[in-house]
Amino acid sequence: MSQTWWRGAAIYQVYLRSFADGNGDGIGDLAGLRARLPYLRDLGIDAVWLNPWYPSPMADGGYDVADYRGIEPVFGTLAEAERFIEEAHALGLKVIIDVVPNHSSTESAWFKEALADPARRDRFWFSDEPLNDWQSIFGGPAWTQVPDGQWYLHLFAPEQPDFNWANPEVHREFEDVLRFWFERGVDGFRIDSAALLVKSDTAYEDLDGVHDVYRRWREIADEYGGRVLIGEVWLPDQERFARYLRPDELHTAFNFDFLSCPWDPAELRRVIDLTLATHTPIGAPPTWVLSNHDVTRPVTRYGRADTAFEHGGRLHGTPSDLELGYRRARAAALLAMALPGSVYVYQGEELGLPEVEDLPDELRQDPMHARSGGANPGRDGCRVPLPWSGEEPPFGFGGGTPWLPQPESWRKLTAEAQRTDLGSMLNLYRSALRLRRGLLGDGTLTWLPMGERVLAFTRDSGLTCVTNLGPTPVPLPPGRVLLASGPLDDGAVPSDTTVWLT
Ligand code: NOJ
Repeated sequence: MSQTWWRGAAIYQVYLRSFADGNGDGIGDLAGLRARLPYLRDLGIDAVWLNPWYPSPMADGGYDVADYRGIEPVFGTLAEAERFIEEAHALGLKVIIDVVPNHSSTESAWFKEALADPARRDRFWFSDEPLNDWQSIFGGPAWTQVPDGQWYLHLFAPEQPDFNWANPEVHREFEDVLRFWFERGVDGFRIDSAALLVKSDTAYEDLDGVHDVYRRWREIADEYGGRVLIGEVWLPDQERFARYLRPDELHTAFNFDFLSCPWDPAELRRVIDLTLATHTPIGAPPTWVLSNHDVTRPVTRYGRADTAFEHGGRLHGTPSDLELGYRRARAAALLAMALPGSVYVYQGEELGLPEVEDLPDELRQDPMHARSGGANPGRDGCRVPLPWSGEEPPFGFGGGTPWLPQPESWRKLTAEAQRTDLGSMLNLYRSALRLRRGLLGDGTLTWLPMGERVLAFTRDSGLTCVTNLGPTPVPLPPGRVLLASGPLDDGAVPSDTTVWLT
């Protein structure tokens, strides 16, 4: 693969705890993932991105990292991680891991040192008084007091103390962490909370100093060659967002505008145009994301009256027509995969899993739930362990009781049940990802005028993609149909359907 493989790649997100359990403790792990690598190869993806796999007390699903150079024992060992990287490479798959530079864990060696010795606190934000009245992104105050009276800053849970990026030691540490994993063959990093690292007393988002960090990281990535840095950058302002993708900074960043966008032709068209307008001048490839481990699954989202995604759980439990949502999720997948740039698939998206909205509160683990006093359901509903096979839970996930319960109704959605069903979501993803490899990915698009409620464009390879978001069928443009997200209506594209033609 070329050095710029990431420009048009299809990247599959593995939420390790919920992917596959190899040792029967009810929690996904590296053994389970390694056993399922052939499934990922057959799906037709180019790379896997794993959420944090480091030793962690799991106060935030592993985004509270206790040791950046190790593997959480529940997931496996460092030797196993190295074997996994080799095996993935042998199957032609790249490996991207998460790095969490904004905050650590209260169980990290550095934080323990800081607690024990007030003279060693300058790797974090300690102060005699809270320096401001910031609220934590998970709810509650962003400052917590330690027994000797000082306070420390945590933008997320209290178990996630924020690093002080004004301290050069923090810079050196993360530069070394990047090298540690690059040396072990990792092909890239997804950078958690990438716009939040640098802070003043009065602001923490998108301060200019953060770009110095990424310029240095880019130099390191370039030394190794063919490696990629992907930012988790949620910013409303596209001009500010684009600054992270300048040629000497990050390679790509997640497109959260597309992910949050309602199922509406004008809004989608606006977001796609804005995305292209933001990326084209700086030569960075766009990314297309429909879901991840933080947001409501598309099948549920697109079946609601309000199809947008918003943080805060406002829409949780509102009625969803899952049949309609499923149909739209299929159409959205073909749309996302046809657009120029790279595309992300979050595990279970290819199975058409809905959000699990009725988890018992006492089983919810996301700190968002507890810290909002239950007002926000949190993100557990999109993190339920995958159904692989069989007629009842744990559906081949592993031997033990899964850490979150799977709905009985998932018997129809197992990978095994879908494998032999030509019309299944799994087979739609497999067909689309394979076709995409030859015909789509990096490049540009040309819009075709097919009316206000239709998104239609051609790609450089000659492929045409038509998505009908209107209520009535529209005539197919000329060409041979390669793939459709649903049955065609006598030569026409029905409502909520995408067709690929050549
Ligand atoms: C973004 C991650 O995707 C999310 O899961 C996590 O809770 C926060 N960053 C904090 O690390």
